[in-house]
Amino acid sequence: MDFQAMKASLEWQIACGADEAILDAPVDRTARPKAVEPPRRPPARDAEPETDAVAAARTAATAAGDLATLRAAMEAYGHCDLKRGAKQLVFSDGNANARVMIVGEAPGRDEDIEGRPFVGRAGKLLDLMFSHIGLFRTESDSEKALYIANVLPWRPPQNRDPKPEEMEMMLPFLERHVELVEPDLIVAMGNHACLALLGQRGITKLRGKWKTALGKPTLPMFHPAYLLRTPEAKRETWADLLSLKERLRA
Ligand code: URA
Repeated sequence: MDFQAMKASLEWQIACGADEAILDAPVDRTARPKAVEPPRRPPARDAEPETDAVAAARTAATAAGDLATLRAAMEAYGHCDLKRGAKQLVFSDGNANARVMIVGEAPGRDEDIEGRPFVGRAGKLLDLMFSHIGLFRTESDSEKALYIANVLPWRPPQNRDPKPEEMEMMLPFLERHVELVEPDLIVAMGNHACLALLGQRGITKLRGKWKTALGKPTLPMFHPAYLLRTPEAKRETWADLLSLKERLRA
């Protein structure tokens, strides 16, 4: 290496911070590394025992005697991180006296902004689908009305899928929601609703087959967002809507 190249190399090392050839004290590089001390935990505070998120949800949900109290309990629940990323809680929409309760997955962007479930494109399709069998979320007559809620009340970031632990911790609230509304029939909209309510996934096989969830006859159906992507599945959905209409008549 010529002088200029060596000088440039040294200047480069100095610029990188390597400006000392030796340290003040010798370093024994053959010695065993010292055991790394575990990070110190902050001292436990007396008044705050470890809380189990699911147990806390169950306690709060069970204590709610009506929908307004349930909503307030969900607003106050601090264990679900989704709450921090969402604009607001999306509790429900429609008529709480409806015979039919629809359970969806989680709010998307539009729902997060408006604070009501199913108000985006999928929601418009949902309204259209149910209007064909004479059911509406704006209807005051319970026979013709719909009530709508979601498994998760907060929008997951970038509309990602709900995580199992998020669904698990919010399930006690959904269960209490159904108990308080007491619908005659439930519609489980899509895979995540089926997983939460029935413990089963695989909507293609489940759809159209009546099941029981939380003691209520429950019909799994394709999610309207799926129908937007897969219009050919509307044929099966039409059959499911007719099955729902029939069941309401029975
Ligand atoms: N999809 C859902 O499952 N729920 C909503 O509220 C909106 C879109």
